This record gives sequence, C-alpha cells and structure tokens, in this order.
Amino acid sequence: QTPDPQLQFDLKVADEQRIEPKDWMPEPYRRTLIRQISQHAHSEIVGMLPEGNWITRAPSLRRKAVLLAKVQDEAGHGLYLYSAAETLGASREQMIADLHSGKAKYSSIFNYPTLSWADMGAIGWLVDGAAIMNQVPLCRTSYGPYARAMVRICKEESFHQRQGYEIMMTLANGLKEQKDMAQDALNRWWWPVLMMFGPKDDESPNTAQSMQWKIKRFTNDELRQKFVDATVPQAEYLGLTIPDPDLKWNEARGHYDFGAINWDEFWEVVKGNGPCNRQRLEARQKAHAEGEWVREAALVYAKKREMRDER
Ligand code: ACO
Repeated sequence: QTPDPQLQFDLKVADEQRIEPKDWMPEPYRRTLIRQISQHAHSEIVGMLPEGNWITRAPSLRRKAVLLAKVQDEAGHGLYLYSAAETLGASREQMIADLHSGKAKYSSIFNYPTLSWADMGAIGWLVDGAAIMNQVPLCRTSYGPYARAMVRICKEESFHQRQGYEIMMTLANGLKEQKDMAQDALNRWWWPVLMMFGPKDDESPNTAQSMQWKIKRFTNDELRQKFVDATVPQAEYLGLTIPDPDLKWNEARGHYDFGAINWDEFWEVVKGNGPCNRQRLEARQKAHAEGEWVREAALVYAKKREMRDER
C-alpha cells in the first residue's frame, strides 16, 4: 500500500522534520514558500540601496570598509534566497522580472530615504535588529533549504546589528550635534521599523496557515512585541528617546505597551506609493540593464567550456 503523501507531510511537519525539495508537498505550501522566500530575497537586494547611498560618504576608512562589507553581505543573502526559491521550481528570471515590473513585494522599510550618516546607525540597530528578531526563528522553518540559508544569514545580520549600534553609541556619546543626529534618525526610523513585521495578526491573511505549516514560528504581533521589549532598554542605554508617548512598561503583561501604528502609511508604501519606491525600482532596473553584457558573456563562456569538455 502506498503511503498517503499528505499524511507523510503532516507527520514530518508535526515531528519538526524538514521538508526537502524532492519531498511531496501541498501546492499551496510550495506557493507560500515561493512567495515569502522571493519577497525576502527582493528585500535583501533592494535593501542594498539605502545604505549604498552612503558608502562614498562614510566618515572614515574603517566605517567605509565595514559598510561596504555589510552591503556585500546583503547581496549574498539575496542570491542565497533566490537559490532557495529555485529549489521549489521558481525561475530566477521570472522572480527578477516580477520585482522590476513592480508586481513582486519587498519590505516596506527600504522605501524610506537615508538622509544623514546617523541613518546608517539606525538601520543597523533597528532594521537589522528587527530582521534578526524575525529571522532567527526562521532557522527552524519547516522547509530545509530556507532554514539552512537562515543560519548563515542570521550570523551576518548579527554583525550588521552590532555595527549599527556601535555607530549610534559613538554619535550618542559625541557632540550635541551628533546626539541630535542620532535622535533624529531614531525618530524617523522607529515607526517604519515596527511596520516591517507586517500587518496585525487579525489583518494578516497568511499568518494562520503559515503557522500551521511551521513556515512562520511566531506571528507578526508576537515578533513586534519581542522587538519593542528588546529595543527599549537599548535606547535607554544610548540616552535616546523612542518617539512614542504611549510607550510604557505594563507590569501585568510583562511587556511594553506601545502606541498605534499608522497602517494607512504602511499600505500606501506596500502599494508602491512610499517616499522612495519609484527611485528604488528604477535603480534596480538600471543595474539589471547595465549588467546584461556580463550575463551574456558568462553564458557564452559557459557554452565554450561545455564544448571543450565534450571534446
Ligand atoms: N513590507 C511589504 N509587504 C509586507 C510587509 C512589509 N513589511 N509585511 C507584510 N507584507 C505583505 C505580505 O508579503 C503579504 O503580501 P502578499 O500576500 O501579497 O504576498 C501581505 O502584506 C499580508 O501580510 P502577511 O499575511 O502578514 O504576510 P506573511 O505571512 O508573508 O508575513 C512577513 C510577512 C512577516 C514579512 C513574512 O513574509 C516573513 O517573515 N518574511 C521573511 C522575512 C523577510 O522577508 N524580511 C525582509 C526584511 S528584512 C531584510 O531584508 C534585512
């Protein structure tokens, strides 16, 4: 008697075993993974742009070298994740075409501008801090190639977070002008960072099913709360103020309460109407067009090698 593939799949997921590319999986599970992993890959690639903006203006050689390394890591994460999505049958050309046409989503956070050097600190501290909060649990996601990619990615994200916090520490302990810059960056990034975790659970169409499949290990609201709880003491240590008058420790809940998120702003940014959406897509389209000769040359070279090997 042949085993029921759905039952096998359910048992594996329940038993915390990983689903591998050649295993049977329900089509909606495959589609959800392609959606999430490709969006994640796009976020890493578009995420290079706001910081790339500051590489030539880093205040010292050391800062420049660290920022360059970080942005290169993000390119690596994107490529890793595209490969993970390819194991599910997605084509890289199609994923990239969907990004460039505006069809595919990527994280809302990368549609905000980077106005001062302090933004490099705030992005590392807060954006990468939020990314780690979301991605460490994904090391236990049910799809093997995604879980394994996350292990290395999280190690690198942890370095990114520290380099950002170190920039914030330097600014917060510097001249008044430097501390003001750090506070201004925190003011501008705080709320968009809370939006990174996605809509509230009761407005998140994908969470319940993704939790059942163990693709997601925590809900959007759970991760957002964990992030706020971890970050408030870090802001206090810096002597900076989180721009939320409703932020307050709630003894009974054992968590911080925080103010209302502007969900209209979030959906506008997701729909393509954020401050930098158009600029980000144009930069990606331009880079892709300018790289065409490299792709062509690499293909011709691969063909030549193949012919040589056949002889
Ligand atoms: N920016 C843009 N779109 C978002 C965001 C966001 N911050 N949050 C949610 N969305 C989109 C979802 O992609 C989904 O769109 P779709 O159904 O059309 O594909 C829709 O809003 C509804 O959201 P959810 O039902 O909550 O979607 P999901 O279960 O996929 O949860 C989340 C969203 C938390 C981002 C999840 O996909 C995830 O954990 N992804 C992996 C991490 C990741 O992509 N991080 C990227 C930023 S970090 C970095 O790159 C450094």
